[in-house]
This record gives sequence, structure tokens and C-alpha cells, in this order.
Amino acid sequence: MCGIVGYIGGRQAAPILLDGLKHLEYRGYDSAGIAVSDGKRIEVVKAKGKLEILREKTGNGKTPAGCCGIGHTRWATHGEPSELNAHPHANDSGTIVAVHNGIIENYAEQKAKLQRRGYTFYSETDTEVATKLVDYYYAKYADPVKAIANFILKVRGSYALAVMFADRPDEIYAVRKDSPMIIGVTESESFLASDVPAILSYTRTVYYTDNGEIVRLEKGKAAFYNIDGEPHEKQPSHIDWDVATAEKGGFEHFMLKEIHEQPKVIADTLSYFMGGGDIDLEKEVGLKDCEIASYTGVIIAACGSAYHVGVVMQYVMEKLARVPVRVELASEFRYRDPILDKSQLFIVISQSGETADSLAALRLAKERGLDTLSVVNVVGSSIAREADKTFFTKAGPEISVATTKAYSAQLIAAYLVSLRFAKVRGTVTDKEYSALVSELKTLPAKVDSVLKNKDEIQRFASEMIAKKDVFFIGRGIDYAVCLEGSLKLKEISYMHSEAYAAGELKHGTISLIEDSTLVIGALTQPETVEKTVSNLEETRTRGAYCATFSFNDVYGKAGRKFFVPETCPYFAASVTVIPLQLFAYYLSVLRGNDVDKPRNLAKSVTVE
Ligand code: G6P
Repeated sequence: MCGIVGYIGGRQAAPILLDGLKHLEYRGYDSAGIAVSDGKRIEVVKAKGKLEILREKTGNGKTPAGCCGIGHTRWATHGEPSELNAHPHANDSGTIVAVHNGIIENYAEQKAKLQRRGYTFYSETDTEVATKLVDYYYAKYADPVKAIANFILKVRGSYALAVMFADRPDEIYAVRKDSPMIIGVTESESFLASDVPAILSYTRTVYYTDNGEIVRLEKGKAAFYNIDGEPHEKQPSHIDWDVATAEKGGFEHFMLKEIHEQPKVIADTLSYFMGGGDIDLEKEVGLKDCEIASYTGVIIAACGSAYHVGVVMQYVMEKLARVPVRVELASEFRYRDPILDKSQLFIVISQSGETADSLAALRLAKERGLDTLSVVNVVGSSIAREADKTFFTKAGPEISVATTKAYSAQLIAAYLVSLRFAKVRGTVTDKEYSALVSELKTLPAKVDSVLKNKDEIQRFASEMIAKKDVFFIGRGIDYAVCLEGSLKLKEISYMHSEAYAAGELKHGTISLIEDSTLVIGALTQPETVEKTVSNLEETRTRGAYCATFSFNDVYGKAGRKFFVPETCPYFAASVTVIPLQLFAYYLSVLRGNDVDKPRNLAKSVTVE
């Protein structure tokens, strides 16, 4: 939530900052601002609303002039979205300016202390407190590293903070704790950003900063200090993401582009972990067969769509590997003092690797002594760095707030881990295992063929535009995919929708079915298809309009039938989710919504 950028080099900073923020807008977009130093003074420009408004205000980056600056795009936590609350924030003389992503939990206490010391506050933000705290210690020590070290000692919460000092025009200082921040360098320029896409077109040489590590950026140089102000060396990493994957590439929206990337993402993730023909989790993930054999159970925690992948994984893994699996919402798991056993494997699933609740759940599992495995898309992210082992999904940068390709890549991770468990624990025969592995390899082509029929879904969306309520029902893996289809619809079309385990409908929700309510049935699981068909029929007889997604014609009375290519039922979510993503996408477009940046949401939820 919130994105920060910084630049120092030989070029004008403002256009580079605006370009960086454009790539970070998915992290928040209710206001934005930049601060640029011309060598003498720091000028701040802020605007409420989307980045385009700030862009206009700066004459498309013509002002403020100067080659060193920081910028911010906001998802409001403390203080409503307004120009006053927008970042950057400054001290009263405008000589210290900062941007911040995260939450300073004890900001009220620190604010009161600063007020007693004579400071005045104008905004409602915790960031103004952070800025003035740095100001207080800079006035005391005249040393930016010392000032930031004291800031670290005084605050609780999460932050990625970048600070400029007017009397140090060729430097930017930064620090982070539990909020992401990367540093990029070239020979003559330096960058900082919340995420890789913001700097990908300028450099691929990056440093992943550690919690509490203080950074000083100069042109082409990054220096790192510990809290005692002692410098240390750090090795840069190379980013191999393709620049084009972070651009729209001719598609109207990132979401549509990312939906179309799914066959490739599935193929890439499969081939990476099956390079030698078989599933190899030891080489790339560090998960050994002897460990797989020893676990007495698996606990999965995640948020949002990643949680929905966890639900699929629970079904697939329990059925295939006959190991007890429990899937939990990370935000609930962490607060209920869960009963855990060291012999269990803890799996956290997260695209960004930064979701605050998922990270906290991981830390809890580690504290309790469980082996931890993360399924993460962003290399260098906090979850990836803290988990004992990481399965990196090969989705590339995902920009649209509503996840699609990362979800699909996470499903592949779920299948590969489940299959390996099944093989090692002897719950499938070699023949069954080989057949399942071969079937996995057909998924990219099957997903591609669903995409080829997208017009059919577009037409369906245009017919359904006036619906007030949409229900998605299914059982088992079909239910899991309904959860995701319903969330996609809500997120971007703003239509009311619910996903229900089909058997639960008659325990209350069926009272909501009225004349022509849309009920969508997912019908790919052979053991339960007939049951779900009966549940659909129960809604149809009460006036519902039923649409089905299935491998073949299983419900004659459905108002609309969509067929997805048949695959093994374990992997059905991978093909069924595609038309549901498209359905949400087209409804969002038809309703004139901002598809890639739906209201009130942010892609990376780094606050609790
Ligand atoms: C946000 C996003 C969702 C995502 C969830 C978890 O709510 O909008 O698309 O599923 O966070 O994010 P993660 O990065 O942990 O997968």
C-alpha cells in the first residue's frame, strides 16, 4: 500500500519520479506528490486523485527542476485522501522532506512528544510525525544516519521511508522495516522504489534492503549502515524480469494483458520446476523428499486470492497425498493462538510477498518451530526472505490490482507440491503420477483455447450488465474456484456477488434468490456434479437464471452453458477460472470502471 520512489543522477528527476509512480499506482492512487531539490531548496508538488492530476500540475514533469527527488502515491491509512495529507511531508522550514509507506503505530505518542517540544502539525498523517521526528534528531546530531537511527529506535510499526535534506542536495536517505524497498543503481544514477517495475527500465542491478538498514544514495552509489552508523558492504542482485511484461503491450488494460499471459506463465512455472522432466522441489525450492515424507500435516495461510489458491490446494493435496491440510486466512490465523506442531509444514502463499497478515502468520509459524515454505512471485520480498524455503512462481510483474496470472501460477505451485507429496508418500502409483504430470503439461494449451473464445464471455457479460446480485455455487474444487470468480467480480465490477458451497445454499442464502437472479454453477468435479445440478435446479425453480461452466453438458435446463476444455478434476480450477476472470473484466469495462485500479483497493496490502 502506497508506493515510494527516489532518483538522483544527471537527469531531471521529476519525469523519472512520475514514470516510477505510474508503475506503482497499483499500490494506491488516492493522491500523489513529488519533491525535487535544485541544489538549493526542495520544492514539493502534491495533488489529490490519480497520478495524472499531479502530472498536469507539474507540466508533465517540467517542474520542479532538479536532479534529485522523491515521490509517493498514496493509499490512505491515517487521514482522508486530500492534498494536505498527501506526501511528501516537510518540516516547517521545508528543509527536510520525506515520503513513507507503512504505518507508524505509535505516531500519536510521538506526535504529542514533538508537540511538547514546540512542533506544529498540519496534516492528520503519521508521515508528518515521522518527518518531524527525523527533523528533531537531525537538529540535534546534524548527521542524517544518526537522525534516522534515532527515528528507528523511537517508532513502532512498518515503514519504507525516504528522506531528503536541503543542505545535502546530492543525497537521499532511506530506511525500511516490514515495508518493501529496493535500491537500484547504474554507473551514474541511483534509484529507490517500493517495487521493481518502477525502476526496471532504468536498471536491473538492485539491492534488497534489510529491516533497519539505513541507506545513503548518491549519483551511481548506494552506501549501507547499521543502526550504530557503521557501514557495511552489500552485494547487488540482478533482475531478469522482462521490461515488456511491466507495460500494457497494446492491451487496453493490464488485467486483460495479464489474463492473456496465463498460458505462458503456467508453462514457465511448470518448466522451471520440471526442467528434468520430473517435479524437482529440492533443487529450486530446497524441499527434500525426506522432509516431505516426515511431515504430519500442512497448514496453509494466505489472504485474498492467494487464500483461494490455498482452498484449492487443501482439496488437491488431501485427496492426492492423504496428508491432513488446513487452510487459514492469515489475518485470522495469527490472532487465534493456533495449535501447531513442529512436525507440520507451514505454507504461506503471496504474490507480493509483502502482505502484512501473511508475513505475520509466517513469523508466528517460525516462532513455533515449524518448517516454512513460501509460494511467492516477487523475488527479494519479505516473505520470500524470511521463509525457510521459497517456491517462486514465474508470473513476472503483475500490475493490475485484481490478480489473474499470479493466481494461475500459484495454482501450479499447489499442484506441483501436492503431486510431489503424493509421489514421495506413495499415495499415487507411478502410472497415476506420470499421467497427472502429463496432464499438467496440457494446461497452457487448454487455457489458451479458453482465451480464444473470449468473445462468448464478452457477449454474456453485456447481457448480464443489469443484474443486481450474482451467486457462484460449486462443491470441492468447484467451490474454491467460485470463491475466486466471485471476488474478481466484486473487486472490479462493483456488483454484489457471493460464492457458496452449493450444499449450503438452502441453509439461508436461497431466500435471496428472486426472479432472474444470476446463479453461476461450476460443474467440473465428477463426484459432486449431480448434487450441484440439483442445487442449481432449486434456484431455477425459484426464478433464478442459471449459467454453467463445465467440461460437457451436464445441466440441460441451464439458461447458458459454457464449456471449458476437459482436464483432470484436480486441475480444473486452472481452466474454469479463466472465463470467470474474463466475465468480471468485461463487466467492469462495460460499467465504465477503472479496471486496473478499482476503487478503495490496493494490490499490496502492507497494513493489517
Ligand atoms: C490484495 C490484492 C489481492 C491479493 C491479496 C493478497 O487484496 O488486491 O489480489 O490476492 O492482496 O496479496 P498477496 O500479494 O499476498 O498475494
